[in-house]
Amino acid sequence: MSTWGLIKTVFFTALTVVFFFIIWVENPFTHHAEYEIPEEAEKIINDPKAALEGRELFKQNCTSCHSLRYDGIYLMSVTAKPEWSKIEKTMGKPLLEEKDGKIRVKGYFVPRDVYESVAFADLQALKASFGKIPPDLSTMYLSRGAGYLYNFISDPQKVLPGTSMPKLFFPEYDKEAPQKVAKIVAYMRSVNEPPPGEKAKRALMGVVTIAYFIGMGALLWLYRKKVVASMKH
Ligand code: HEC
Repeated sequence: MSTWGLIKTVFFTALTVVFFFIIWVENPFTHHAEYEIPEEAEKIINDPKAALEGRELFKQNCTSCHSLRYDGIYLMSVTAKPEWSKIEKTMGKPLLEEKDGKIRVKGYFVPRDVYESVAFADLQALKASFGKIPPDLSTMYLSRGAGYLYNFISDPQKVLPGTSMPKLFFPEYDKEAPQKVAKIVAYMRSVNEPPPGEKAKRALMGVVTIAYFIGMGALLWLYRKKVVASMKH
């Protein structure tokens, strides 16, 4: 190999290594934790069982103002409408869950335009009360991260001074308050993050795919060498 060929090989190998290091290890595009989470809350947030309890807590405490459409959760005032269950079933896509070995429908994913037209008056009423429509929380975990959410839900004013989102959990009166907040964050996380087994499977798929390309590249390179050698005769 010529010196120039060697330089090129080293350069592109280094570029590839840096690329995967950035994607897998030091990703600048993901949220960096700037907010502290107590250790106990951190454990709850990473626990898939807590996420199930969190879903119920979310329904009880948040759906007077927020929807979470990706998981089939809509404003309380909308789901109380007599026509809603029919709209959900005809316009939505069923979301399945496994419970006690049985597959069942846990809700419906309804397209945004359909939902927002049914919920129009409700959303406008919230806007009139709070100055803006409380956002749908489907991807909030991705954009804000666990630390932000835990601290914001515990005490909105402290994180976002002047926000119209009310404080809902008071450790002074409810000893379980910090755990409840952590469970809700665990739930929001579970909507955006694949379960641990699934995550490992996806990582493995990535490694296998890259290994395939490297192996294929090596074979092609050997084959090319053979063809070039035979052309000399
Ligand atoms: C009484 C209405 C109300 C309830 C109940 C409520 N919220 Fe909110 N929430 C709001 C409003 C209004 C905003 C928009 C605040 C803003 O942008 O200043 C908001 C914003 C948020 C945000 C986005 C913050 C950001 O950085 O933009 C999150 C996350 C959130 N709420 C989570 C929750 C969770 C979780 C619950 C249930 C435990 C909940 N909210 C219950 C009214 C509410």
